Amino acid sequence: DAIELGAYQHYMQKEIFEQPAALSTTLEMLGGARSVQPGLFGAQSEAIFAEVRQVLILACGTSYHAGLVARYWIEALAGIPCNVEIASEYRYRASVADPATLVVAISQSGETADTLAALQHARAHGMPHTLAICNAPESSLVRETALRFITRAGPEIGVASTKAFTTQLAALYLLTLTLAKQNGRLDATREANELQALRHLPIAVGRVLELEPEIRAWAERFADSQHALFLGRGRHYPIALEGALKLKEISYIHAEGYPAGELKHGPLALVDHNMPVVAVAPNDVLLEKLKSNLQEVRARGGELYVFADADSEITASEGVHILRLPEHYGPLSALLHVVPLQLLAYHVALVRGTDVDKPRNLAKSVTVE
Ligand code: G6P
Repeated sequence: DAIELGAYQHYMQKEIFEQPAALSTTLEMLGGARSVQPGLFGAQSEAIFAEVRQVLILACGTSYHAGLVARYWIEALAGIPCNVEIASEYRYRASVADPATLVVAISQSGETADTLAALQHARAHGMPHTLAICNAPESSLVRETALRFITRAGPEIGVASTKAFTTQLAALYLLTLTLAKQNGRLDATREANELQALRHLPIAVGRVLELEPEIRAWAERFADSQHALFLGRGRHYPIALEGALKLKEISYIHAEGYPAGELKHGPLALVDHNMPVVAVAPNDVLLEKLKSNLQEVRARGGELYVFADADSEITASEGVHILRLPEHYGPLSALLHVVPLQLLAYHVALVRGTDVDKPRNLAKSVTVE
């Protein structure tokens, strides 16, 4: 282990820091291309995508959160309806099948029993167009689907998924661009710019990783908490969910992710000075709305930890701590904003002395129901 870990204390930390390389490798096949090729998803993809009128994403855990982000992208950029379902729920739900659906199963391992069963259920239900987004090229999942995209994050050992998630997002963004193009919604200039933004991601993520010392300092303050709330809006709401999942998985602090606009419909009742509230606050169209949600938290004495962008108009004050991400990144900013949340969970777990790579009761891959 010592050799494999190198300068890192845990696999999770190593895997967080491997994200720039994992993204570069995953996106390597793009080369310097100015346009997306449907062949990225397999030989039959052009014919299959031409028949697709909607998308259904099936996954569990962190992979499910990647799917939730993708829904915002697919509907906004490609203009195609998209549903995302937790695999273990979908497989037992009486649902309505449309054969013109692209069924996308997302899984790091490709061996999650519920995801495999959900995919089989969808197919048996009359939806033959299937795509796997998976980090394991030889896995059961990849053998089952007509189309596939292999993320090249490399082996992920830490139970809490990190680099698999960001590479899944990169793959899902490529899928979004491909569907948008097929749908006549991506002009050549935008296409070239979007690909350039993807190619720049490893550098952008590398800059976010430089925030580790500040996040470590936040983690010290966080470590005594019993509960924490993570807020986000729009495509950053799934990032709030993922931040909460990471924290609960490895630090055992009870954490909930919430869409900030829902605060007043429940969780605000829990907010007091003992409840840290983490806000994912990129500079997007929802920032002003989010800021008024954050004022509601401050008014109840909640301590705020805000991840903003370089240019977000939001300032620190008593009880409001702010860290700024170096770059504002448009639709792909979800991919950058998850990184400090991974680091926060990691450092809180370190302070609490938990078994970071093998949290109690959890498995890396759940191959039984
Ligand atoms: C387990 C792991 C999670 C993972 C989930 C789905 O719960 O602990 O980290 O997100 O399974 O795994 P998959 O391999 O299908 O992405």
